[in-house]
Amino acid sequence: MSLEIIPTGAPVAAEIRGVDLSQPIGDNVFALIERAYDEHGVIFFRDQHVTPPQQVAFTRRFGDIEFNIFGERWSVAGSPEIVVVSNITEDGKPIGVKRAGENWHSDMCYTARPPRGTMLYAIEIPTLHGLTLGDTEFASAAAAWDALPDSLRHRIEGRRAIFDFSGRKRAFPPSQSEIERNPPVHHPIVRTHPHTGRKCLYAMRDDCTGIDGLEQDEAESLIAALADHIVKPAHIYRHQWRPGDLLMWDNCTVQHRAIQDYDMPQRRLMHRTTMGGAVPA
Ligand code: OGA
Ligand code: MN
Repeated sequence: MSLEIIPTGAPVAAEIRGVDLSQPIGDNVFALIERAYDEHGVIFFRDQHVTPPQQVAFTRRFGDIEFNIFGERWSVAGSPEIVVVSNITEDGKPIGVKRAGENWHSDMCYTARPPRGTMLYAIEIPTLHGLTLGDTEFASAAAAWDALPDSLRHRIEGRRAIFDFSGRKRAFPPSQSEIERNPPVHHPIVRTHPHTGRKCLYAMRDDCTGIDGLEQDEAESLIAALADHIVKPAHIYRHQWRPGDLLMWDNCTVQHRAIQDYDMPQRRLMHRTTMGGAVPA
C-alpha cells in the first residue's frame, strides 16, 4: 500500500495512511512523512502496533530525544525516553502523569530550546456509553498569525515575551529546584517556522508573564488578546482518539490542550516521546 496524506479539513492536522510504523521506514517515505508533519502541524497514523523501542526509534528520526522533568518519575520500564501519560491508578498509586496539559499551551515553552514536537501513542482511550472521551484539541498558531490585522502585526513583530516557569499557573506548583533549573526566557511572539518559513504566534496566558519593552498592564492585556485569538474555533482541530493512534504535533505551529472529561474507572493510557528543537527565531 502506498502512502496517502489526507488533510482533516481543519487549518491543522492530516492523517497518514499506508504506513506500518512497526516496520523499518525507508528514507524516501520518511521524507514524505516529515514534509507532511512540517506542512500540517499535526499528523496521525491509525491502527498502529508499536513497541516502546519502535516508538523511540521513530521519534529519533525527527531529532534527538528530549528528556523532561516527568520522565524521571514516570518513564516506561526499560525505555527511559518514554513518559507514561495516564489517569490510571494501580494499588492506589498513579502509573503516569495525570492531567498533562489541561490548559492551552506549547510544550516546554519556558525552556531556552523548546522541543520541536511531541508524539503520543494511544494505548487505552476512555469511553462512556460507547462515546469516546479524552480528546485533544490543537490550535493553529500559523492560521492565527495569517488572520491578524496588519496594525497588530506591526505592533508585535520583533517583540519578545517573557516565559516564566515560576509564574505559570500550574495544577501542581513547581518545586524550588525545578524553578532554579528553569530561569525565565525571552522568546519572539512571532516565530518563523524553521522548515516552512511560516510565521506562527507564540503567546499563552499561563506561561507568558510580560513583554520586553511594554508596561505590565499593556503586556498582560496584549498576551491575553493574542492567546485568545490563537484558540478561536476557526483555528482548531479536535482529535478524537482511538487505541492504536500515533499522533505528533509541532510545538511551533500549534498549541494544544487535553480535554479532561473523564475519570477513573474510564482509563486513558498514552506513551509520550519528545524530540529536541532549536532556539525559537
Ligand atoms: C502532553 C499533552 C495532551 C493529552 O503530553 O504534552 O499536552 O491529550 N497531552 O494527553
Ligand atoms: Mn502538552
